[in-house]
Amino acid sequence: MTGSIDQLGYLAFEVSDLNAWESFATNVLGLGVVDRTERGFALRMDDHAARFFLTQGPADDLAAVGWEVADEQELDRVLATLPGAREGTAEEAAARAVVRLVIARDPAGTQVEVAYGPARAEPFVSPLVRSGFVAGAHGLGHLVVSAPEPRDTAAFYQDLLGFKLSDRIVCTFYGYPVDITFLHTNERHHSVAFGGPQPKRLHHFLLEVGSIDDVGAALDRAIAGGVRIAQMLGRHPNDKMISFYAFTPSGFQFEYGTGGRLVDDATWQPTTHDRVSEWGHHPPERYAPRRK
Ligand SMILES: [Fe+2]
Repeated sequence: MTGSIDQLGYLAFEVSDLNAWESFATNVLGLGVVDRTERGFALRMDDHAARFFLTQGPADDLAAVGWEVADEQELDRVLATLPGAREGTAEEAAARAVVRLVIARDPAGTQVEVAYGPARAEPFVSPLVRSGFVAGAHGLGHLVVSAPEPRDTAAFYQDLLGFKLSDRIVCTFYGYPVDITFLHTNERHHSVAFGGPQPKRLHHFLLEVGSIDDVGAALDRAIAGGVRIAQMLGRHPNDKMISFYAFTPSGFQFEYGTGGRLVDDATWQPTTHDRVSEWGHHPPERYAPRRK
């Protein structure tokens, strides 16, 4: 079974501080808030009615990953072949603004949802991101998930959901061993990656914008807003993304970048890279000026 999944459709987060997230998502990330209630809200970036679902709770972590399929036949195939999968209820589908969904768990225990028929809306125009978000048919971005048993996670995504290997990065980064596997399910270089166990289910999610100026402006907004920066600007060798990393109000990170390359399965050859970045991505603490 290959090629089931069309794109990364949505992410669901359980967050302890809804107000902090509302301000962060709109004023730093440049996303649009919709359906705000006491219990949560959704976020928009493109022609999907919702790309993120935030609900109030103590976990401060990923609650579910939503993968989108093109039609109901594909959804039925996933339901029949994915171990432990069940059909979501009408209420569960409505909560994700989709026609139908199937619910399962990945080897790390993270809730994985496969959905069909997302609600659409007028394309979102961000007041802060002039070039707009690069999403649409390539999905909302990508995510890096915790994988205590990377081989099991690779088998889950590749053998059961049809993802293809993009490449790996194997090296050390500031003394830490790195071994990350990158997988794609459409032209976006990777929609999911994993490199071992993480403190949270989610290491980071990526938002891609259309210009380097909009990455720089987001970095300015993050610094001005007191957001803790994890890694300054840099470029990855595999997807060529120029990006920075910083912390969300829930303690997991986001990556904000531009210029990600596309892969063509007809010619793509998976490789292994020996560095995380061609340049940059330094933790800013390393460059803090000493006080006299
Ligand atoms: Fe990333």
